[in-house]
Amino acid sequence: MPKSDFTDTFELAGRRVRRMGYGAMQLAGPGVFGPPKDRGACIAILREAVAAGVNHIDTSDFYGPHITNQLIREALHPYPDNLVIVTKVGAVRGDDGAWLPALEPEDLKRGVHDNLRNLGVDALDVVNVRIMGNVHSPAEGSIEKQVVALAGLQREGLVRHIGLSNVTPAQIEEAQRIAEIVCVQNHYNIVQREDDALVDALAAKGIAYVPFFPLGGFTPIQSSALSDVALRIGATPMQVALAWLLHRAPNILLIPGTSALAHLRENLSAGQLRLDDAVLAELDAIADRADK
Ligand SMILES: NC(=O)c1ccc[n+]([C@@H]2O[C@H](COP(=O)([O-])OP(=O)(O)OC[C@H]3O[C@@H](n4cnc5c(N)ncnc54)[C@H](OP(=O)(O)O)[C@@H]3O)[C@@H](O)[C@H]2O)c1
Repeated sequence: MPKSDFTDTFELAGRRVRRMGYGAMQLAGPGVFGPPKDRGACIAILREAVAAGVNHIDTSDFYGPHITNQLIREALHPYPDNLVIVTKVGAVRGDDGAWLPALEPEDLKRGVHDNLRNLGVDALDVVNVRIMGNVHSPAEGSIEKQVVALAGLQREGLVRHIGLSNVTPAQIEEAQRIAEIVCVQNHYNIVQREDDALVDALAAKGIAYVPFFPLGGFTPIQSSALSDVALRIGATPMQVALAWLLHRAPNILLIPGTSALAHLRENLSAGQLRLDDAVLAELDAIADRADK
């Protein structure tokens, strides 16, 4: 396989990571619950991502639960020195697969220990506190208790760096009064632009912004305007959606999720797409179009 030249990097957790990373959530079974149909294929995807140069992988112990972390461990442990694994705590799974908030300090501690055990490490590179808010969009409310709990686990040496997920600008400021925040992971993509101002504010501070659902998540983005552009420049709509994010701001780090090797390859090569100003203006307008 040719090596990707998506060499653009950004500092995350004290290391330079490629801006094109990989999100491991799709590796668990349907509904991110239970084992995958083809375990070998998942291992192959993780190994190919890292062989191609990916050094930023996003995960959580509540994917599966436990399954995604166990796959990462089987595929990649002992981990390369330059690999940054970002995980998250703040939820557990019900017996029926429900996503249940688990945001009390004891829950967060248990979540950190679950991640340590299943990833097979003594300390986690980055732990995002996943605030439940309105599930996929944030809601105001103090997160002091959660950040204090994570800062305690950081002092114990179990967590190297702290990030936040599904949070508002006010919650980020509150957290920054307690601990250093190295990344923010919120819902954002070419059609979901509520965080536009936040992306720029974090860029000015050198803090990574990591959009979840960069391709639309469980319902991948469908847009006639995106498809038109893709056809014209000889790329796929998903590649254009990822390239648009890379062009949007230098602090945006991508973690597209896929359970298909062909999609992984397609997504990684989006790092080589260069979009000119006219195309970017056209893509910028998609969020405002009624039909997208
Ligand atoms: N902090 C949070 O609350 C939160 C929430 C959700 C996700 N995340 C993280 O963010 C990562 C990315 O989110 P995500 O995986 O949910 O959504 P996503 O990356 O926006 O999209 C994944 C979906 O797109 C499909 N896909 C991927 N590449 C494709 C391609 N080239 N062509 C066509 N379809 C393609 C995947 O199906 P195939 O498997 O068939 O490729 C899957 O259905 C996750 O892996 C997870 O690590 C975080």
